[in-house]
Amino acid sequence: MSKKIMLSGVQPTRAITLGNYLGAIKNWVKLQKEYQCYFMSVDLHAITLKQDPKELRDATYYGIATYLAAGIHPKTCNMFVQSHVSEHAELGWVLTCYSTMGELNRMTQFKDKSGKQGDHIPTGLFTYPALMAADILLYDSNAVPVGADQKQHIELTRDIAIRMNNLYGKDTFVIPEPYIAPVGAKIMSLLDPESKMSKSDVNANASVFLTDSEDTIRKKIKRAVTDSGSEITADTKQSGVHNLLTIQSCILGKSIQELADSYAGKQYGHLKVETGDIVAAAINPIRTEIEKLMGDLGYLNELLKKGAENARERASKTLARVYDRLGFIPR
Ligand code: TYM
Repeated sequence: MSKKIMLSGVQPTRAITLGNYLGAIKNWVKLQKEYQCYFMSVDLHAITLKQDPKELRDATYYGIATYLAAGIHPKTCNMFVQSHVSEHAELGWVLTCYSTMGELNRMTQFKDKSGKQGDHIPTGLFTYPALMAADILLYDSNAVPVGADQKQHIELTRDIAIRMNNLYGKDTFVIPEPYIAPVGAKIMSLLDPESKMSKSDVNANASVFLTDSEDTIRKKIKRAVTDSGSEITADTKQSGVHNLLTIQSCILGKSIQELADSYAGKQYGHLKVETGDIVAAAINPIRTEIEKLMGDLGYLNELLKKGAENARERASKTLARVYDRLGFIPR
């Protein structure tokens, strides 16, 4: 029996955060054996906001190097760049026509991101969830492992797919399921544990980046905002402490309660220092491996070429099926 399909992606950036790693990439690594996998660096998405071309090219390679360094197997998983498979843009257009302004207007990510753009909101920022739906539906994806902030986009993907299946036949699209891990789906800012850790945070001390040195990681976590109390418990109301325990839990595979119990009678400082050590130990080998891979773009280009070929094979079949159902004359 053929394996079920898993697909996901991260926007190309050198500022991949601990949140991206623990909320998404680490779960891909864990689940990769159970599925046939497609992992993208989503450059078409990146241009919904202004990009420097040189930096974008570098960040696109950096994304793929990160997947590899985190432990994604190049022999069994397909890794590719979104723009290398033109079916994404084509199906994206179709799905733009089958989504509504009302639906797209409800997307909280659009509200957040457009709010920072003043009067000049790129149209692509608004229609982006239809492109993300195309990313997912093109591969007949069953599972989409993401952090909590992407759940709404996957629900929209399902709504569009169900709508089109009702119009054009039940087997037009496979209805995907989000995979959101019970722990780590929303890693919080180190400086404001009520908000999500985000690459776009203006204060670099709010996030740990995979590019950060061991020393920087330790310093950032040492300065993490904790609560006014002094006891370390698993109570979610202690949001700063809870965030550090969550980070440890994702890395060590221990429950939050178990970790909280191990800190009974200890100080916040203790928790911070140990969390810093644990995060530094987890990130160090990944950072080193990314640097090594970034020194061999020839290898990455080969891998991307093969990845895009495999992706195209599947994506072109889905697109042909959809075009046929819509009534387009075959090419
Ligand atoms: P992006 O690049 O914003 O984020 C990449 C992944 O990281 C997760 N994430 C987090 N998880 C836990 N805690 C956090 N603080 C945190 N911040 C980010 C995100 O949920 C995501 O899983 N639109 C997507 C990229 C995309 C995609 C797709 C994903 C494009 N097409 C198809 C899945 C399937 C995005 O902008 O993710």
